[in-house]
Amino acid sequence: MPDDLNPAALRDPHGYSVKWHLYPEDVLPLWVADMDFPIAPEITQALMERLRYGIGYPKGQGDSLLLQAILTEQERKHGLKGLEPENLWLTSSVVPGIYATVLGLTSPGEEVLTLTPVYPPFLSAINDYGRIPKHSPMVRTPQGWEIDFEELERLVSPATRLLMLCNPQNPTGRVFRREELERLAEFALRHRLWVMSDELWANLVYEGPHIPIASLNGEIAARTVTLSGPCKTYNTAGLGGGVAISHNKALLERMKQATKGVMGHPNVMSMAMWRAGIESGQVWLQQTLERLRGNRDFLGDFLRTRLPQVGYVPPQGTYLALLDFTAFPFAKDVYQVMLKQAKVALNDGPPFGPGYQGYLRLNFATPREIVQEALERIAKVAESID
Ligand SMILES: Cc1ncc(COP(=O)(O)O)c(C=O)c1O
Repeated sequence: MPDDLNPAALRDPHGYSVKWHLYPEDVLPLWVADMDFPIAPEITQALMERLRYGIGYPKGQGDSLLLQAILTEQERKHGLKGLEPENLWLTSSVVPGIYATVLGLTSPGEEVLTLTPVYPPFLSAINDYGRIPKHSPMVRTPQGWEIDFEELERLVSPATRLLMLCNPQNPTGRVFRREELERLAEFALRHRLWVMSDELWANLVYEGPHIPIASLNGEIAARTVTLSGPCKTYNTAGLGGGVAISHNKALLERMKQATKGVMGHPNVMSMAMWRAGIESGQVWLQQTLERLRGNRDFLGDFLRTRLPQVGYVPPQGTYLALLDFTAFPFAKDVYQVMLKQAKVALNDGPPFGPGYQGYLRLNFATPREIVQEALERIAKVAESID
């Protein structure tokens, strides 16, 4: 990452970054979930050091020091206790873990419940292998996006096998409260559902704490697979790396059996960076979080004063903001309007679930000047068409 964080420097000359190279040069890219900030120097150093020892095959289970670091972080920071290295399965990244959960814990024709809007691979993992999606839309209230428990009860059936949860939630930024998670856990237990909880964003929380659903009690822990990984916390998506965690080793075994031969082995550079991040990257992480919080607050102020017609609730975690443009006459084409006229690339709403046309997801993990310039461009176009 260059030191001077301006668009010309961020658009690397090699075409490495999909964020900066998918669109023409005059477009500001605030879409895919990469941060435009430098990675922790401790991570760079650990990667260089790791290279000195060659990059041969790793141990099948992965680096035992990394496994221990993940366990310690889960226990001390997030309160997920009672785990041993055998309760962890390192995956090449988190999305394969999502697919492995669907493949291992459900059969074709069975139903999978998920709260929408949600990170699109949740929906493709259900659809790609012939499972039946059951979408439960969250409701945007002035206090924030809320789970519609009545709708969940209406949707669940004897054919429902799995509840897929994203917490902290992409794209709403919700960090679910203890009482919400307890209600979800009670629901899952009563209907004998397995639970997949993607907690990849757990370290990027402004209003927390982040609570793993598996930490609530032993009963729900025995029915849950928690997914995590390094890439959102440390801005290292290109290296991959992920972990599936369960107190119930049989669930991990089912996932392994269902994906036999296709999951590859843990990436040695990713393991080295992840351990360095957990062990030495916490100061960097705090500084980065403060920077993100500042951008989040700036975005909220801007929308309130300049674009009050945009529906928005500030995220409690993540660096993503879901913007509702449905009040505008151009709502149905908002993605193209912002791309072509404002020259700002955001993520379009429909991939996040049915009913999100007219919504855009904005990634504010970029220097303040870029956030401001993008918002000025968006406001100018919105005001001119309104
Ligand atoms: C909730 C969630 N899960 C998984 C991923 C992707 O993880 P990976 O790149 O490790 O496959 C993302 C990326 O933004 C995400 O937001």
